[in-house]
Amino acid sequence: MNFNKVLVGAIDQGTSSSRFLIFDTKTSELVTYHQIDIKASYPEKGWVEEDPLEILDSINACIDQALDNLIKLDISPLCIQTIGITNQRETTVAFDISTGKPLHNAIVWLDTRTTDTVNELLKKIPGRDKNHLKPRCGLPLSTYFSAVKMKWLIDSSEKVQSAMRDGVCRFSTVDSWLLWNLTGGSKSGKFLTDVTNASRTMLMNIYSLTWDPVLLEFFGIPQNVLPEIRSSCEIYGRMSGGKLDGVPISGILGDQQAALYGHGCLSEGQAKNTYGTGCFMLCSTGTQVISSKRGLLSTVAYKAGPNKPTFYALEGSVAIAGAATNWLRDNMGIIKNTNEFETLAKSVSDTQNCYFVPAFSGLFFPYWESHARGIICGLSQSTTKAHLARATLEAICFQTVDVLEAIERDMNITLKVLNVDGGMSSNNLLLEMQADLLGVPVVRPSMLEMTALGVAKMAGQAEGVAVWNDHSNVYDDSTNDVFVPLITTASRRKRYMQWNKAIARSKNWEL
Ligand code: G3P
Repeated sequence: MNFNKVLVGAIDQGTSSSRFLIFDTKTSELVTYHQIDIKASYPEKGWVEEDPLEILDSINACIDQALDNLIKLDISPLCIQTIGITNQRETTVAFDISTGKPLHNAIVWLDTRTTDTVNELLKKIPGRDKNHLKPRCGLPLSTYFSAVKMKWLIDSSEKVQSAMRDGVCRFSTVDSWLLWNLTGGSKSGKFLTDVTNASRTMLMNIYSLTWDPVLLEFFGIPQNVLPEIRSSCEIYGRMSGGKLDGVPISGILGDQQAALYGHGCLSEGQAKNTYGTGCFMLCSTGTQVISSKRGLLSTVAYKAGPNKPTFYALEGSVAIAGAATNWLRDNMGIIKNTNEFETLAKSVSDTQNCYFVPAFSGLFFPYWESHARGIICGLSQSTTKAHLARATLEAICFQTVDVLEAIERDMNITLKVLNVDGGMSSNNLLLEMQADLLGVPVVRPSMLEMTALGVAKMAGQAEGVAVWNDHSNVYDDSTNDVFVPLITTASRRKRYMQWNKAIARSKNWEL
């Protein structure tokens, strides 16, 4: 058995699945992985929940299975030097720190139950300005972020209220829920989070990187229920029990920040777009916080050690990407599995002017409008499921066009290429359409696991571990796929105008 490899494990806990991936630090190659899908529940209209224990169990099962795969490859699990955690951001867990039991299902980032909470909070703000808290946390007031979900739990859950009175309630994002459990739970668990995840709660000051008393007061969240904020790269603790007992955990990044790091988009003006459940474009702004005039979020990109500088990014968040194809499969039954999607969409040459705005959770960037709802318009007698499939891909692309334009204008730059990754980026038609509608070449790396690679690299660089010293994107450009724009500017503009008409109709649907 091979004991000489130097490997790093990456826990990638996404909205739709959990995975454990193992990378070789010499070549950045993915050696093996295991994936388990996560079930979401929708108890009421607009509610999206996941079971924190299912999330935890799925991670443990992925670790076990990936280690078995490693042994089958004749490589010893002892080669794994350290582990990183990357995760769906904003999703909020409330648990009892004395028992380790969840006090409620996790409220997923897509959940819109807090629409009324947001409206009530807006009443406290002069002029009901959504961007009032942005100078402190970089974010607009929206159902998307953790603080409003925590407030809802405090206001609505008796279990949370009672645990608060007993001093045992803790709120966490998915990273700290996993870290606390994997490092020993109520016995020896470390209750910590990293700056990138904390920057998505609306409670962290984006400059001081500490919980901000004004924000805590605004949302009514006591600081003692929250984890301690740390850098993205340090030894937080060690695995307790299981096959990796004693292995350090030394990197934590929100999944979109991890993908930015994985792509090596570390210089100002470099951007990536990840097509997952949602779709998120981040553009590095270096060590500066840039405040967007166009609805982009200012977010922490990474801090590669306690004494290292903080890097920031501008982000355009699109709530629904892969979730729209899942909806067409699960709710509408127009495909049996998502692999059929590209073939179906390709079977027609255009959408016949059909537009689909999949605003199931309201519209995120640039509208931050929780009253928006999904619409399909432009239907005619000859519209088929193939046109709808194509319109779904176009919708994802149009939303990305909006984001890219805002980034270019806010940063006063012109993007030369857009780096992409995420499950849906294996769809060639999507990327051809994306290049067409953006008018910018789209570059897909040969290895699509940029999120996991990003956090693995981060974990491998931590002081006390230091097995991965390369900060650059190690991928050879010659193995990338490049999709170049092929349509005219006039055709791009015409379709974009129609799209905006569809958006206008979806915007205030629930009001
Ligand atoms: O902000 C939500 C985001 O982190 C979810 O990512 O990959 O699960 O779509 P994903």
